[in-house]
Amino acid sequence: MQNRIRNFSIIAHIDHGKSTLADRLLQETGALAEREMREQFLDKMDLEREKGITIKLQPVRLEYIARDGETYILNLIDTPGHVDFSYEVSRSLAACEGALLVVDASQGIEAQTLANVYMAMDLNLEIIGVINKIDLPGAEPEIVKQEMENVLGIDRDEIIPISAKLGIGVEDVLEAIVARIPPPRGDENAELKALIFDSYFDAYKGAISYIRVDSGKLKKGDIIRMMSTGKEFELTEIGVLNPFMNQVESLKAGEVGYLAAAMKNVADTKVGDTITNAGRPAPRALEGYKEVKPVVFCGLYPLENSEFEKLRDALEKLKLNDASLLYEPESSDALGFGFRCGFLGLLHMEIVRERLEREYDLTLLATAPSVIYRILLTDGSEVFVQNPSHWPDAQRIEMVMEPFVKASIMVPNDYIGAVMELCQEKRGSFVNMEYLTPQRVMISYNLPLAEILFDFFDGLKSRTKGYASLDYEIKGYEASDLIKLDILLNGEPVDALSSIVHKEKSYQRGRALVEKLRKIIPRQMYEVAIQASIGNRVIARESVKAMRKDVLAKCYGGDITRKKKLLEKQKEGKKRMKQIGRIEIPRDAFMSVMDIE
Ligand code: GTP
Repeated sequence: MQNRIRNFSIIAHIDHGKSTLADRLLQETGALAEREMREQFLDKMDLEREKGITIKLQPVRLEYIARDGETYILNLIDTPGHVDFSYEVSRSLAACEGALLVVDASQGIEAQTLANVYMAMDLNLEIIGVINKIDLPGAEPEIVKQEMENVLGIDRDEIIPISAKLGIGVEDVLEAIVARIPPPRGDENAELKALIFDSYFDAYKGAISYIRVDSGKLKKGDIIRMMSTGKEFELTEIGVLNPFMNQVESLKAGEVGYLAAAMKNVADTKVGDTITNAGRPAPRALEGYKEVKPVVFCGLYPLENSEFEKLRDALEKLKLNDASLLYEPESSDALGFGFRCGFLGLLHMEIVRERLEREYDLTLLATAPSVIYRILLTDGSEVFVQNPSHWPDAQRIEMVMEPFVKASIMVPNDYIGAVMELCQEKRGSFVNMEYLTPQRVMISYNLPLAEILFDFFDGLKSRTKGYASLDYEIKGYEASDLIKLDILLNGEPVDALSSIVHKEKSYQRGRALVEKLRKIIPRQMYEVAIQASIGNRVIARESVKAMRKDVLAKCYGGDITRKKKLLEKQKEGKKRMKQIGRIEIPRDAFMSVMDIE
């Protein structure tokens, strides 16, 4: 039985066709009848669909009758393609023996794909090279083959050219999975060890975990134990996804499936944890994943203070689907009670915020994102600060350090100059440049993480006409000349609008910021002075003139319905406003700190 199982995932850069290929595999193996076929079945969250990217992984079990006449069980574990989510890639790879590497025939290998392939190689996975979109007029499969051979050492003769869209070559891919990816090895009579590679909260069943059984077996009614916490639960349901939830009697070594155990507390199914049998526990847990550390932080506050508990509840639920999300309560003079949240990157932050608003019906205020700064104080101690409002006074600071990354940018050689210019502007220092093929290079720079977080992607995209791809890894802390920039409204500092900036850019940013705020703060009943200051020194000032008329002044006389409508409209507008002292600020103002060049 075990030798007919193949566990694999697909590694691909965004848009290279991973979801299209996955859908094809489902279709080809009959897992989804044509009429059930929704476009891109595996990307199930709305947000993913809208943004056209895969975030959450979902395993699917396929049954394939191979050319040798045998029926094989293929477990496909989906992986996300965006740089923010590479930790989820490592999670899904850890549950597999092989991976398909899908590369767009008109684009070639991208920086992010490389990082993921190296991760798969480190885990000793069998890698099957696939070149997709060979139907495109701009397809250059021979050049891409050469690139894959040069850069990754994949034998060009073993690379499979396909068109996922037209269904060309898909059967060859299935045959290669069967022939080249080794079956799982694990003793089903040994103690149970199952890896939780994902989990989510289901309103009816409680927490659901996606697992890969490494050794032993589990069946309904078993008492399982979480090895990290020692907590025990009775299994109420186990099953496979083919692709819809389907209960099974048991799951054995090598198999992939889901389980429910009436776990109400979302913290009970920790992704990366090992499940064992309480009656016959395994002596040691499986190696978990590298703990991922959030690198971007921002404050999330309910617009209505009364929604604080609701926000706490929503964050707790979301955290189950997203182990990388960190949060802790904090308070702000301006915004009241909220949470400081940690994210893997800006896209991750945006997605969490949107999910909280949509799925949990909250209206939130987000402060500008920040990295974690390391500050040496004059008294010899050291503090880590990720909230600008906790920045120590300038006279107490001996040295400030910020996180730096090593960025690798792959680009056609026509754009080398444009990329270098951008990196210099972002305070980068050149590391090296390597030719991947005569037409494409990989450029490496050391850059402050904070600069990458703010519109670096956009800059890169626009300056290279979308041809560049970026990957980065955190290198550590380096000293930088950073200071805190405060914003005052009518003389009062607004803690939630403070930001940390490089000294050389501080005047420019201060001016840009007050200018921007002047445009987005609506007129009030009195004049509002907007100032930017460093320490006690005001470096820029603008003002919003007082409003002349009340809205109601517009309706001369008696039309009551009209008056009501206007008041309603004003109330609607107020929903998106935050009252700071006597001043009303649009909720997007707090994020705008980041949009300034
Ligand atoms: P993420 O989910 O963001 O990781 O993207 P993906 O890699 O899953 O890409 P997806 O399958 O969504 O495909 C991206 C685009 O390429 C879509 O518009 C597809 O229709 C198109 N596409 C996929 N495969 C092919 C192909 O073989 N030929 C052509 N011409 N287009 C394709």
